Amino acid sequence: MRIGILGAGNMADALGTQWAVAGHEVMVSGRDPGRSAERAAGMTAQAVARTSATAAPATEAGASAEARSRAVAEVLSGSVAKVRSGSFAEVAGFGDVVVVAVREAGLADTLRAAGPALRGKPLIDVTNAAAPDRYDPTRPLARLIADITGGHVVKGFNLCHVDVWRLTPPVFDGRPLAVPLCGDDQAAMDVARTLVADLGCTPVNGGSLARATQLEATAAFMIGLWFGGADAQAVLPPLPSSGEHQPA
Ligand SMILES: NC(=O)c1ccc[n+]([C@@H]2O[C@H](COP(=O)([O-])OP(=O)(O)OC[C@H]3O[C@@H](n4cnc5c(N)ncnc54)[C@H](OP(=O)(O)O)[C@@H]3O)[C@@H](O)[C@H]2O)c1
Repeated sequence: MRIGILGAGNMADALGTQWAVAGHEVMVSGRDPGRSAERAAGMTAQAVARTSATAAPATEAGASAEARSRAVAEVLSGSVAKVRSGSFAEVAGFGDVVVVAVREAGLADTLRAAGPALRGKPLIDVTNAAAPDRYDPTRPLARLIADITGGHVVKGFNLCHVDVWRLTPPVFDGRPLAVPLCGDDQAAMDVARTLVADLGCTPVNGGSLARATQLEATAAFMIGLWFGGADAQAVLPPLPSSGEHQPA
């Protein structure tokens, strides 16, 4: 799959590198072409190092420099495609799916710069409010993205810190991380589920795009708990203690 990422920051780096390792073609974009190109080169290097560590024994310590560079070249020509960078509009045109991973302050400008190619595409919205303690549920970011672009937005990946998305895989106490996804378009939801599974995580149906507001509010609330030093994971009981209900 071709994955365009609006953003060349930490989330683009963490998620895009994982997806490159999973065999997808990735293109990132920030405001500065030079910085974006540097980010893309760093992601390619990380993806090659991770792939070569498992696939090419010649990259192990002790192998000659020549053997190591041959192994890296083999990896580059094989399962890991070079991560590219481009303008916001180029990223929008490149992606079969486009991930929105920019700061709230630049969200509207970035989407406008990305242009009409986003219309009708699956868009994965990983954004959170810049100031979680002042999150405004009357202005959900996912709705803003849908309204500006006309794309099929799926909200997800916003509940966890970027370092979680760098884990290979994100598994805690033997359980793969569950990732709730909210969206209206089933084809876009299928794409998002694939991208979650590619990280070694479990997709969870979070309902329609209207529920993305609750997902954003949940992130804001949990971030407040974590910043206050609380163990946010401990606030919820396990499923058998969640009360009597019919599974959806
Ligand atoms: N970091 C986390 O732990 C985390 C976790 C979950 C969700 N998120 C959300 O994911 C999104 C990206 O986070 P991140 O950690 O990748 O942020 P980051 O490292 O600061 O990168 C932000 C990206 O947004 C771009 N951008 C465009 N317009 C901007 C503006 N006016 N001001 C600032 N940046 C602008 C930046 O462009 P340049 O490259 O040109 O600087 C950069 O590529 C945010 O909405 C954040 O809330 C973050």
